[in-house]
Amino acid sequence: MKPVYIVANWKSNKTVAETRSWLESFTLPSKDCTVIICAPFTLLHFLNEQKLQVHLGAQDVSPFGEGAYTGEVSAKQLKELVEWVIIGHSERRKYLKESDEELSFEVLQAKQAGLGVIFCVPDENIHIPPGVEVVAYEPQDAIGTGKSEDPTRMNAVIAGLKKRSKSLYGLYGGSVTPQNVASFIKEPSIDGVLVGGASLDAVAFQQLIENAYHS
Ligand code: PGA
Repeated sequence: MKPVYIVANWKSNKTVAETRSWLESFTLPSKDCTVIICAPFTLLHFLNEQKLQVHLGAQDVSPFGEGAYTGEVSAKQLKELVEWVIIGHSERRKYLKESDEELSFEVLQAKQAGLGVIFCVPDENIHIPPGVEVVAYEPQDAIGTGKSEDPTRMNAVIAGLKKRSKSLYGLYGGSVTPQNVASFIKEPSIDGVLVGGASLDAVAFQQLIENAYHS
């Protein structure tokens, strides 16, 4: 069976107290898949201390190294707490105006620090910087709308993206739920999913992991 990545993107949600109760309700299904929780910076130290069975990721990284960059979090700082980082999510491209050039610097910083990169691609023609291991195709209209895309069509797009670089994994993101996850995972070129809304509820996320592997 192919390896499956299930990546939670908590976005700007959850306090430490809320994370504690999420963890109390969550049991990681004993499945052979890689589960990565990408949490806000404010939760990473707490999550790291819980010694969980899941992997941890951040949702952004500074395009600069350490130094006089007020408010930025460097890749070296993240590396103490997480293995992965999401770079180029479409919400950051849209609201924070992150450019392809800036994102390339972020990938460079992440790679130099030894972080795995999950690079989000809102359209098929976007530049994928060298060094990216996992690409997540997330059509903007599918994010947070409840209107997930057609799995067969996503499979074709992701197959095309994966041709751009050797050993690239391809994820689909956009309104993935416990009900529809299997339809994406069963596609031959889709290696996993990036999950926003459905990862915020521990029971729904656990169910999503269970269902992903039943395909
Ligand atoms: P969604 O978000 O699952 O809530 O659509 C996905 C994402 O933005 O990564």
